[in-house]
Amino acid sequence: MQATALSSLGDGVVDELLDDAFGIDRHQRTAYLLRKGMGAIDHLSFGILDSGELVGSIQCWPIRVADAPLILVGPVAVASDRQSAGIGTRLMQLMLGSSEPHDAPMVMIGDPEYYGRFGFSAESTLGWTLPGPWEPRRLLLRNPAMLDLPEHGTLGPAD
Ligand SMILES: CC(C)(COP(=O)(O)OP(=O)(O)OC[C@H]1O[C@@H](n2cnc3c(N)ncnc32)[C@H](O)[C@@H]1OP(=O)(O)O)[C@@H](O)C(=O)NCCC(=O)NCCS
Repeated sequence: MQATALSSLGDGVVDELLDDAFGIDRHQRTAYLLRKGMGAIDHLSFGILDSGELVGSIQCWPIRVADAPLILVGPVAVASDRQSAGIGTRLMQLMLGSSEPHDAPMVMIGDPEYYGRFGFSAESTLGWTLPGPWEPRRLLLRNPAMLDLPEHGTLGPAD
């Protein structure tokens, strides 16, 4: 299997994988509203190819809480017939290993039972609100440098 910059792949092939992993109604998800109009962050967005076929992808986006910059991680998607074989872990490790010192703290909507192992937790996000429905336990932050972030605020696109 081979990792590649997601920007080197066509939108169509990524959309097909996301439809497979999340279903075709995925555009209604709150995460899409959070980064509406933003372009993906190239140095944190990857695909995993197996014999030329896209089997996993991760995308990251510039967003903010109040005036503080954040990176929205996700979707993280693994083809439905390739799950639980380490591809999601590889994508997360690739993304985290490519983050740069000046990158903002990372936030995502996901299961803490899975993303906790990568340093994400809902502990500091309980005062935040989103532009759509969300489960507070699934709004996760990774802020290893313990940067000061607003305790209360609404998340939305960076601009
Ligand atoms: C969630 C996802 C990215 C994980 O990637 P993956 O390649 O399947 O998972 P990995 O091989 O890295 O890890 C597998 C382990 O994580 C666990 N795991 C996977 N998804 C999990 C979840 N949502 N919650 C808790 N544990 C999870 C598996 O049970 C397995 O545990 P084990 O190692 O004890 O057997 C992938 O399954 C996926 O795209 N799923 C569809 C989208 C989805 O449901 N997302 C929900 C989270 S946002």
